[in-house]
Amino acid sequence: AASDPDLVARARKAKEALGDRVFVLGHHYQRDEVIQFADVTGDSFKLARDAAARPEAEFIVFCGVHFMAESADILTADTQKVILPDLSAGCSMADMARLSQVEDAWDAMADAGVQGSVVPVTYMNSSADIKAFCGRNGGVVCTSSNADVALEWAFAQKPDAKILFLPDQHLGRNTAVLKMGFSLDDCVVWDPQKPGGGLTAQQLQDAKMILWKGHCSVHGRFSEAVVDELRAQHEDIKILVHPECKHEVVLKADLVGSTEFIIKTIEAAEPGTTWAIGTELNLVKRLADAHPDKNIVFLDRNVCYCSTMNRIDLPHFVWAMESLVAGQVVNQITVDPDTERDALVALERMLSLPG
Ligand code: 13P
Ligand code: SF4
Repeated sequence: AASDPDLVARARKAKEALGDRVFVLGHHYQRDEVIQFADVTGDSFKLARDAAARPEAEFIVFCGVHFMAESADILTADTQKVILPDLSAGCSMADMARLSQVEDAWDAMADAGVQGSVVPVTYMNSSADIKAFCGRNGGVVCTSSNADVALEWAFAQKPDAKILFLPDQHLGRNTAVLKMGFSLDDCVVWDPQKPGGGLTAQQLQDAKMILWKGHCSVHGRFSEAVVDELRAQHEDIKILVHPECKHEVVLKADLVGSTEFIIKTIEAAEPGTTWAIGTELNLVKRLADAHPDKNIVFLDRNVCYCSTMNRIDLPHFVWAMESLVAGQVVNQITVDPDTERDALVALERMLSLPG
């Protein structure tokens, strides 16, 4: 649906009134009605890197989800205020790893005699306290665009290193198997709902990758069956998916990469080519609209948005911006100083990785 013209005008007016005092960041999964007001759009890596690009901006309005706004707060000066237009824009995957659960797993690794070799690596899609845990324990943050480089770094930290990968089992498995040459047998899954993670000490000792049992409910929906169906319908179709998809789906795809990679791939594609894309629907629709000369379809039979990304809609954006104009800071995201210090260590390790 087209955006409400009155709200569009109000958003524009508020943005003009704030001028350089505001910097608006938008993740690729945001709605069109919101992304049109972003000064910078990007995947989570690009947005983390660019968050500190405007030190003169007093306010950073983050159109994305909570863990991204937390990371922006960690990476920017204390004088800059990060605002998330709707506080209920969380991420179900990030919620799947809580600090107390990760600390229990860490203790179990000590009991199994392996903790000294474990390097924790957390996907950006995690709460600030999980990033801080990684920072305190010699680990690193990664995103879907640098998970392979982060794993290489982590494996180089210790002789006989093994990785605890949080919280997305699919990104961990896909990266280990498809980019690092590990086998599925090198990977075990720690289930926080089971005593001892559902793993024996022997399994922890033998594993190279200890994957946390988390997943993205949006990307988890893409199936091998639909890939097969589309291949049968279109002879030359290319399947392009995000690494949060299940391993079986990624194995059947032609290309896999972050949202930024997906955009660049479509931009570089020849006119007349056919693509099925397995990532969030706002982005796939935007790509289809921007490239009418290419045939772009969604890799699912059903509509499938990320409901929390979608919480940032134009009414929330306008409310946040107009509040700032009126001198009222709403929905500020702040990370406590101790967590911030340790999480920054893990984030800076990521930002200094090669590539
Ligand atoms: P990227 O931004 O790394 O492509 O990740 C997608 C995602 O799920 C963000 O929530
Ligand atoms: Fe979280 Fe998945 Fe939504 Fe990304 S798409 S914010 S991982 S639920």
